Amino acid sequence: MESADVRADIPILEEVIYLDAASTGPTPRPVVEAMCDYFYNYNTNTGRGAYSLAIKTTQKMQEARQKVANFVNASPEEIIFTKNTTEAINIVASGLSFQKGDSVVVPNIEHHSNFLPWLNLKNKGVNVKVVKADANGILDPGVLEDAVDETTKLITITHISNALGSVQDIYEIGKIAEDHNSMYLIDAAQSIGHMEIDVQKTKAHFIAFPGHKGTLGPVGTGFLYANLEEAQQLEPVNLGGGTVVDVSEEGYELEDIPARFEGGTANIAGFIGLGASIDYINRIGLDKIEKHGVKLTSELYQGLSSLENVTCYGDPQNIYGIVSFNINNMHPHDVAKILDEVGNIGVRSGHHCAIPALKHIGAYQQGGTVRASLHYYNNLEDIQALVQTVQEIATTFGA
Ligand code: ALA
Repeated sequence: MESADVRADIPILEEVIYLDAASTGPTPRPVVEAMCDYFYNYNTNTGRGAYSLAIKTTQKMQEARQKVANFVNASPEEIIFTKNTTEAINIVASGLSFQKGDSVVVPNIEHHSNFLPWLNLKNKGVNVKVVKADANGILDPGVLEDAVDETTKLITITHISNALGSVQDIYEIGKIAEDHNSMYLIDAAQSIGHMEIDVQKTKAHFIAFPGHKGTLGPVGTGFLYANLEEAQQLEPVNLGGGTVVDVSEEGYELEDIPARFEGGTANIAGFIGLGASIDYINRIGLDKIEKHGVKLTSELYQGLSSLENVTCYGDPQNIYGIVSFNINNMHPHDVAKILDEVGNIGVRSGHHCAIPALKHIGAYQQGGTVRASLHYYNNLEDIQALVQTVQEIATTFGA
């Protein structure tokens, strides 16, 4: 499938120049149709009924889990369905048994979802060691390693920064975690669906994924890859229906993994949609998506950084899919609003739920940045439209 074919499958792209893929990916027709098929033809619960329609739903959920597992080279038992990346990270942060004096190593440019759950552990006496990225938002693995010692229980990092697009060396950091016998969690919110993520190659014990961003699945879906050995150490935090095999007045016996972590009725339509979206991404091919993304990111950075009164953030050699910028002396929300009104362009502006990152690059006082983010459905015309409109705004209002 070519970029234009995908574009034709996404009706909202007729309405807007959509450069906000990092917030959420628009859902293509075949994914919506898979969900409609569920709602129209077998809208029943999963794992709870002995009649044929309920069995069909259970099978469809199993198929979806298998597709997700294959996509990241995991086994289905290692895939815990969640409502988003944030929930996936919190399952680990709340579920691991941290002792006073343990430490966690986390960079200072993380999305709040991979920062607050760790900061919260300070209440348990955990030492949260925040390591500094360079001025472009790249974390030198050596700097991270210097913070690791015998107290380090877990190292975590986001693969691609949602605020800056900076791409971290998750493989090198995986080696450091292995050398120091530490657990390792990756936040892959901005890379899944854009490039290959093979959980085995990363050496990570946990990887948190969205379903609704790069994979173009529906909102309200995400998943956690949890290596089976480490998953045994997680205390489930969402107990209820579907999480136990036996209960008495004295206690209960937990279900196997992953069911023990998935209490209550799931977003069944959403996960069936997620399975369909993985099929869709596989039909395009991750290599093609990544190549397209690299080309458009470079065009976007070059175009914006050549403009007067415009500041771009990050190292153009080491960003993917996201370009963060400001028009000097303008609040990013004002820029985003004018881009919408004048150019019919949708971008995110502000702090991007990554306040420490924005402070780190010196954009916090200005109100954050304007963030353009892209996917395979975007084309050169989208990039040119953004650059031209930013130029007009910068010429009129910038300084
Ligand atoms: N985490 C999403 C973003 O960066 C919502 O925009």
